[in-house]
Amino acid sequence: VGRPSPTADLAGLEVVVSAGGTREPLDPVRFLGNRSSGRQGIALAAAAARRGARVTLVAANVDAALTAPLGALTVVPVETTAELREAVRDAARSADVVVMAAAVADFRPTTSAAHKIKKTPGGTPAPITLVENPDILAELAAERLRPGQVVVGFAAETGDDDADVLEHGRAKARRKGADLMAVNAVGTAAGFGDVPNSVTVLDAAGEVVARAAGTKDDVADALLDAITARLAAATT
Ligand code: CTP
Ligand code: CA
Repeated sequence: VGRPSPTADLAGLEVVVSAGGTREPLDPVRFLGNRSSGRQGIALAAAAARRGARVTLVAANVDAALTAPLGALTVVPVETTAELREAVRDAARSADVVVMAAAVADFRPTTSAAHKIKKTPGGTPAPITLVENPDILAELAAERLRPGQVVVGFAAETGDDDADVLEHGRAKARRKGADLMAVNAVGTAAGFGDVPNSVTVLDAAGEVVARAAGTKDDVADALLDAITARLAAATT
C-alpha cells in the first residue's frame, strides 16, 4: 500500500532464500516434519526477483504449484536438513544476501531404517532417538561464505510465562549473529495462511531496525528494504 512501483534496486545482486520445512526420514516412507508452507520465503524470493536480483530458492518440501509460477528464478528442491544445508551453502558462496526463511527441523532421528518399520502385534513400539541438526543460520553468520554478505533469519515466536515475543526474538537475534532477524508473533491470527502478518526486524544486537505489517508481499518488500539498507551501509 502506497509502495512505489517496483524498481530494479537489487539488479546485479545474488540472493539465496530458503523456504518450506525440512523432513527427516524415519524409514523409506515416514518422516518427522513441520507444517511450514513456504509462502513467506516464496514471497520474499519473488519480490527479490521482481526487484532485479538473481535469486536461488532452496525449497524444502514446497508444493510445486507454489513454485511453478516463479519462472525467473532458480528453484532447488530439497527434503532433509542436510540437503538444505548443502544447497544453501553451495549457493551462498557467491551470494550477496542469504535469507533463511525455511523451518528447519531442530532434530533428526539418529538413524533411518533401510526398510519400512513394522509393528508386531501386541508389541511395544521402539522409541525414536533424536540428534540435533546443525544450525545453518548460525553457521552462515559465523562463516560469511562470501565477504560482506548479509545474512538474514526468521523467527516465529509465541510469548510465554518467561518472556514476550520481542524478548525471545532479541535473545535469538543475539544468539544467531545474523545481520537481520525478522521476528513474527504466532499463535494469534497473524502469521497463518493468507491473513496479514506483522514482523519486527532486529539487528544482531537485538535492536529494532524496522517494522512491517500487511500481506506476505508487503512484509517481503519491507524486509528487502531493510536488507538494501544494510548492503548500502556495508559498501559506504
Ligand atoms: N535455523 C537454521 N538451522 C536450524 C534451526 C533454525 O538455520 N537447525 C534458522 C531458521 O531457518 C530461522 C532461524 O534459524 O531463520 C530461527 O529458527 P528458530 O526455529 O526460530 O530458532 P531455533 O534456534 O531453532 O530456536 P527454537 O528452539 O526456538 O526452535
Ligand atoms: Ca527451531
